Amino acid sequence: PAQTPEDRFDAVIAAEQRIEPRDWMPDAYRATLIRQIAQHAHSEIIGMQPEGNWLTRAPSLRRKAILLAKAQDEAGHGLYLYAAAETLGVDRAELTEKLISGRQKYSSIFNYPTLTFADVGVIGWLVDGAAICNQVPLCRCSYGPYARAMVRICKEESFHQRQGYELLMTLMRGTDAQRRMVQDAVDRWWWPSLMMFGPSDAESPNTARSMAWRIKRHTNDELRQRFVDMTVPQAEHLGVTLPDPELSWNEERGGWDFGEPDWSELTRVIHGQGPCNAQRVDRRRAAHEDGAWVREAAVAYAAKRAAEQAA
Ligand code: ACO
Repeated sequence: PAQTPEDRFDAVIAAEQRIEPRDWMPDAYRATLIRQIAQHAHSEIIGMQPEGNWLTRAPSLRRKAILLAKAQDEAGHGLYLYAAAETLGVDRAELTEKLISGRQKYSSIFNYPTLTFADVGVIGWLVDGAAICNQVPLCRCSYGPYARAMVRICKEESFHQRQGYELLMTLMRGTDAQRRMVQDAVDRWWWPSLMMFGPSDAESPNTARSMAWRIKRHTNDELRQRFVDMTVPQAEHLGVTLPDPELSWNEERGGWDFGEPDWSELTRVIHGQGPCNAQRVDRRRAAHEDGAWVREAAVAYAAKRAAEQAA
């Protein structure tokens, strides 16, 4: 029998090769990728806000230069990801519109406030650390443009993680007040960081299909476990306590047992009721509206250039 486009698609996936923009793909595969890549892009862009809060108040020129560079990297990640989403036939303007009208999601983690400068370090260590755990496997995602975008993003994320850890090491070598500030930030960010991996496998409607399509390479719980195992020794080295009384080494499994995140909190934050959801989306909408003149000028310039070239 003749090979159908679907047979070819299945064969490419089974052979661990990449699906490219012009290849035939099932509608649901396309829709899943658009959903995930758009959410991911939105997260990078919204993710600039919590740390942006400290740009004008960084304690030294060096810390300010590092933080500025990091926020700029995040803008860049958002752009690669919007470009990857556009290869699937959607338009960046349309995705932005869906974000600011609340029809598309972004990561729950960016709806928490950054109360002290230690939060900048903890975001680098825990939030970017969780992002790396989640994203390194996406370099092997079956969709070529997404997988390739992730390679550079992961390299930059690993730099972000190290800068966070170095910032915290510096604070831990400081005064008692600085050490308390770090511990307080760890207490506030630990559980939300675990929630970044999404609901438990039993409650995750998308995982099975995304794994079969090799978009996701591990389940939410597998990645969460990997993150905990990686982070516990780092916390010990740093000298902070992770706020989970149930953390204990499981000799048999060779991994850390840990407590259950408050899933009702994750649900609330995903559905718009986290501490900063409204503020984050309002800020994004205002920035988009303030930037209208730039987009208009770019379109007018492109039209003028096109007319000159046609003449
Ligand atoms: N924050 C917001 N929404 C979430 C989160 C979270 N932490 N976790 C899960 N969700 C949403 C899912 O998007 C999905 O909603 P939808 O079907 O309306 O899109 C729903 O909750 C159910 O979850 P899952 O079935 O587990 O969804 P999925 O298979 O998409 O897995 C995950 C979620 C793990 C976040 C996946 O989409 C992913 O790996 N995305 C790429 C990484 C990413 O977006 N990172 C952003 C934060 S890191 C950073 O930017 C620094």
